[in-house]
Amino acid sequence: MSTRVGFIGVGLIATSHLENLAAMEGVEIAALCDLSEPALERAQQRFGGAAYREHRQMLDAEKLDAVYVCIPPFAHAGQELDVLASGAALFVEKPVTLDLARGREVAREIERRGAVACCGYHWRYADTTRRVKELLPAESIAQVLGRWLGGIWMAPWWKVKELSGGQMVEQVTHLFDLSRYLVGDITEVTAFATGGNVHDVEGYTLDDASVANVRYATGAVGNFSQTCILERGLGSDLTLIGRNRAALFSTSALRVTDTDRTTEYPARDPALKLEDDAFIHAVRERDSSGLLSTYADALQTVTTTLAAEASLQQGGRLQKVGRWSFEAAL
Ligand SMILES: NC(=O)c1ccc[n+]([C@@H]2O[C@H](COP(=O)([O-])OP(=O)(O)OC[C@H]3O[C@@H](n4cnc5c(N)ncnc54)[C@H](O)[C@@H]3O)[C@@H](O)[C@H]2O)c1
Repeated sequence: MSTRVGFIGVGLIATSHLENLAAMEGVEIAALCDLSEPALERAQQRFGGAAYREHRQMLDAEKLDAVYVCIPPFAHAGQELDVLASGAALFVEKPVTLDLARGREVAREIERRGAVACCGYHWRYADTTRRVKELLPAESIAQVLGRWLGGIWMAPWWKVKELSGGQMVEQVTHLFDLSRYLVGDITEVTAFATGGNVHDVEGYTLDDASVANVRYATGAVGNFSQTCILERGLGSDLTLIGRNRAALFSTSALRVTDTDRTTEYPARDPALKLEDDAFIHAVRERDSSGLLSTYADALQTVTTTLAAEASLQQGGRLQKVGRWSFEAAL
């Protein structure tokens, strides 16, 4: 029997997931939902499936095994709870919400139902991530350096901070999250931002550049630096430093520098494909043990990046990052 999958939001990232799913044996792209008629038509022509403009209609009409929620950060408004209520497994793209109270409700519901649920932090699935874990165990890492040096993304919501959550929350979240996966929780953050360099993009309200300094529960320290004002970006990567060993990680390759040599490990498969494989396997087997980014953990990454945004809005004021818990959500 095929695994019937539905989508809420069929824009850019959904298309990448759809490409992966379309190539998988035994997966049926059964239903697509989007507010935008052109986006819906484009996706339906390419991938098939019944088309819906409203996600509850889709969930009522279709019996789906799994639903991907691939909508912009500001648009999360209960879709996840509706998917869980339908009995389907849930995939949510990062950042999973901008509203922590709403996120806690979703996390609690996943826990209560024992549902299969996965979040879109695909960097965790890269085979090179596994290698970093072996070469630089969490307790050996003293310093973390994350860089996200890019341009202004074309989606209309993206350049509006109130809709995207800001760059720490929207894109640098991948680096925060991977560092949490490799080093552990961040307990303190202080951040600064600058602006005033972009005059040619209407409606732009993002910071042109920002930096966040963090401390981990292990005692390690870190820095995340981002800009989005480059037409030709310099890429994004994460460096981890231990005694006599440094690892420079990007989604395409890992470079490890020891005292006497530098070794390059190219990533074998695209991390997004590995993530989709793991999710569909979990749905079929009803076994979440292969999922590397749970909703509850993704919510801790949002908690951390929202603290960074709060700090830069308060001119660098130190923020303690609390650990959210199910108890606190009850
Ligand atoms: N994992 C990654 O590397 C990665 C990459 C890109 C985007 N993303 C994330 O995926 C999410 C979507 O980003 P995108 O680039 O695909 O955006 P997008 O604007 O290309 O697509 C989003 C789609 O969602 C639709 N939509 C909005 N509200 C909806 C609703 N209530 N119901 C149904 N459809 C709705 C929009 O009409 C649009 O077609 C964002 O949170 C983004 O951060 C993740």
